[in-house]
Amino acid sequence: MVSAAASDTNFALAEQADRHLWGHFSSLGRSVDGMPIIERGDGCYVWDNLGNQFLDGLAGLYTTQVGYGRTELAKAAGEQAAELGFFPIWTYAHPKAIELAARLAALTPGDLNRVFFTSGGSECVESAWKLARQFFKLTGEPLRTKVISRNLSYHGTSMGALSITGLSAIKSPFEPLVPGAIKVPHTDLYRTPQHAKDESYFAEEIEQAILREGPETIAAVFLEPVQNAGGCLVPPDGYFQRVREICDTHGVLLVSDEVICAYGRLGAMFGSERLGYIPDIITSAKGLTSGYSPLGAMLVSDRLAEPFAGTDEQFLHGYTFAGHPVSCAVALANLDIFDQEDLCGNVVANEAGFRASLDDLLDLPIVGDVRGMGYFYGIELVKDRDSKEPFSSDEAERLLRGFLTLRMAELGLICRADGRGEPVIQLAPPLIAGPDEFEVMNRVLRQVLTEAMVEMAKPA
Ligand SMILES: Cc1ncc(COP(=O)(O)O)c(C=O)c1O
Repeated sequence: MVSAAASDTNFALAEQADRHLWGHFSSLGRSVDGMPIIERGDGCYVWDNLGNQFLDGLAGLYTTQVGYGRTELAKAAGEQAAELGFFPIWTYAHPKAIELAARLAALTPGDLNRVFFTSGGSECVESAWKLARQFFKLTGEPLRTKVISRNLSYHGTSMGALSITGLSAIKSPFEPLVPGAIKVPHTDLYRTPQHAKDESYFAEEIEQAILREGPETIAAVFLEPVQNAGGCLVPPDGYFQRVREICDTHGVLLVSDEVICAYGRLGAMFGSERLGYIPDIITSAKGLTSGYSPLGAMLVSDRLAEPFAGTDEQFLHGYTFAGHPVSCAVALANLDIFDQEDLCGNVVANEAGFRASLDDLLDLPIVGDVRGMGYFYGIELVKDRDSKEPFSSDEAERLLRGFLTLRMAELGLICRADGRGEPVIQLAPPLIAGPDEFEVMNRVLRQVLTEAMVEMAKPA
């Protein structure tokens, strides 16, 4: 029960948010109407300022791998802030950035031994495109400036990363964007099941794009191991091996954008490791610190660093807060927890149970498909399961924003109801989650989706 005084404070907070806080990808001025104000967290749960408890089925935003309330991370941050609260890695270095770079290099596949820190994911993607361009200028192929990525994909919001992103709705207000960002089909196997067993179909689309544009103009292909936007689109077996061959044939770099898929999300330290390919660059962020402090890391192959090594040539690029000592200390403590609690092992041991708890919902006619791997799943919602008829955009809006998001929060579950592509519900809990949390997600989703079917049968 919230006291009258607490209730006044909470209302004042909501009003201030309405007036002053500019939420990201959010409508302005809606907090008084019920946008939760999350105040604290513990394990897989968070609480809002009214005392309501939520199971965080999205790990913040695919980020809080070790869960909330980890005092080890708070302690690491506090101790580092007391010792050296800030120093840049421009010209100087500091011990935690060095230690973390070496630790990441030991974890990465292949010869990805160089670590370029950023403050987050978009900066990593931006950095990867810039590095690819400068690398080719230095190695005598200055025309290689273009990049290829997939339709619907999300790679961040800065102008370069946004150009690589394949979501026209979030790009059009900012056009013209950076030229030379080519799009190819994503791997939606639910709607193109004829290609599910064919590793080459989608990969050949990439090769065709390279040939169409001229291989000598293509610098890199940017792909997520499992594509988030569109609802956890898993590629067919062998897809990445074929893409790797195509990239090698045409001298193109393969960038694995693992801002979501690294650090245990798919049950291995890196998504590329889980899917069995070695990229030239891995872009990573989010789970590296479990979100306790902002940090991104671009992990680069020795081959790409070669033209810069032992010469006066600099990668002319940097960010003040990249490799922040507090964030690096938190990342090291976070990786310690990964080791001590075998978080990747926990994901592998539990993923079948998680999947089964979601597959259980397939008896509901609104559930068209359940897909994903590790602790990263999407549930595609359809109007007619037999024909796979999708909801119209008005219906999808009514379903997602008019009903699902609020109702799931009312029932104590945070997850993503997303309409980029067909409507999907996405689940990506902290990596410490287990059968108890799967049971809660299943129960709430069954109730909400059952109610949604009734809701959608009503006239608009
Ligand atoms: C695959 C991918 N790349 C890049 C980004 C951008 O990361 P950030 O929001 O940290 O800038 C995201 C964010 O969700 C992402 O999922």
